[in-house]
Amino acid sequence: MTSTEGKNEKTDVGSYFISNYPPYSQWTTECLSDVEAALASDSVAKTPLGLYLHIPFCRKRCKFCYFKVFTDVNATEVQRYVDALCNEISLVSQLPVMGERSFRFVYFGGGTPSFLSPKQLKKLADRLKQHISWDGAEEVTFECEPGTLSETKVKTLRDEMGVTRLSLGVENFSDELLDLNGRAHLSKEVYRAWDWIENAQFPNVNIDLISGMVGETWDNWRENIRKTLELSPESVTIYQMELPYNTVFSKDILGNQTESPVADWETKRAWVEYAFDQFKSAGYSVSSAYTVVKDPSKVNFSYRDNLWMGADLLATGVASFGHANGVHYQNLADLNRYYEAIEEHSRLPLGRGFVPSEHQKIVRELILLLKRGYLDAAYFREKFGVEITSLFKKQWESLAGSNDITIHGDAIRLTGQGLLRVDGLLNHFFEPQFQGVRYT
Ligand SMILES: C[S@@+](CC[C@H](N)C(=O)[O-])C[C@H]1O[C@@H](n2cnc3c(N)ncnc32)[C@H](O)[C@@H]1O
Repeated sequence: MTSTEGKNEKTDVGSYFISNYPPYSQWTTECLSDVEAALASDSVAKTPLGLYLHIPFCRKRCKFCYFKVFTDVNATEVQRYVDALCNEISLVSQLPVMGERSFRFVYFGGGTPSFLSPKQLKKLADRLKQHISWDGAEEVTFECEPGTLSETKVKTLRDEMGVTRLSLGVENFSDELLDLNGRAHLSKEVYRAWDWIENAQFPNVNIDLISGMVGETWDNWRENIRKTLELSPESVTIYQMELPYNTVFSKDILGNQTESPVADWETKRAWVEYAFDQFKSAGYSVSSAYTVVKDPSKVNFSYRDNLWMGADLLATGVASFGHANGVHYQNLADLNRYYEAIEEHSRLPLGRGFVPSEHQKIVRELILLLKRGYLDAAYFREKFGVEITSLFKKQWESLAGSNDITIHGDAIRLTGQGLLRVDGLLNHFFEPQFQGVRYT
């Protein structure tokens, strides 16, 4: 059992959300020659290709944030980073792994990509276009913090950068909670930005919420959901608050030996369940353990689904994660070393990697795809030539025994309860050597 499977389990320090396999803590510098070889090899032409760009700046560090971010930076430092990123993309664009492929999906993540000014964004887009094009991409996602937006910036994102999916980090509508959790924005900034966003007509606007911010209550959570529904976004993502090791809250808990200030897992799941029920009543469909979507025929999730099905993802920016020709890699996580690789040596800022075995690739896709709530055994039979129902017989039996899944023929489905706690179930599929190891 993992800590999140029991009833009334506290939200202790440690990772919950699973985004890859094998665990990141197992990736090493010894694998870098394999990463280089993978990037220098031709690709399989039909494998979808994506690009991730990491913008590591924020106005303020959220107290629950575990991402690589910097605050209090000036325009010169931002420009240095943007220059390095463009130079890195010029190197990436020459890699044999690109082949003749164009990018099917592009993701500007952070940190806060919307921290960049309209002028910096235009310059970034112009410089990137000297090397690559994402004109044909079916999805271009851009993460935004509400308080960083202006009307001009929103227009720049849609008209000059071709953003199709704007993801807005609302997290909560209570100013008291936003402040308590160290967020940089207040709720009035969400409403101020909303008109600009609607006028710009993005095909998909997503709102991010967190279930279990410090100070959350049932009454406030109901208000959050009511206010989100009022805005009527195309999709909503709800993450259950986790406290990985390097957040401000985690350091408080560990350093002061204090109780976790975050609601227990059962309560956070009940909040997500309530939210899913409300969204379903309003006509939304549940599209994964974290996402509801207003009109599934209009909005698909290219980044999520392609990545979960083994697409190539070229990672750019400090500390970002990628996957190429079957090999995992992460860029250097130290900003000075990242700059040194690009500015002084004109080489890719590769940090560490991992070469998954065939079995590990199957586990990776299985656990990631299970987050959508269902698996089709036929998909794995066709792609990997394996019967996942028999290969993982023991795991399915255990999960069926705890009422987390049902199996009928090729269809494996999570129950409502299973979907709400899916990340806590996935380590059933980890190989023995990765059971109990730190995830990150
Ligand atoms: C990489 S963050 C970028 C957010 C963006 N900088 C902003 O300010 O809106 C993407 C999302 O991860 C989620 N997130 C970040 N830390 C989290 C945590 N400790 N637990 C759960 N979700 C978290 C938040 O919902 C956030 O919007």
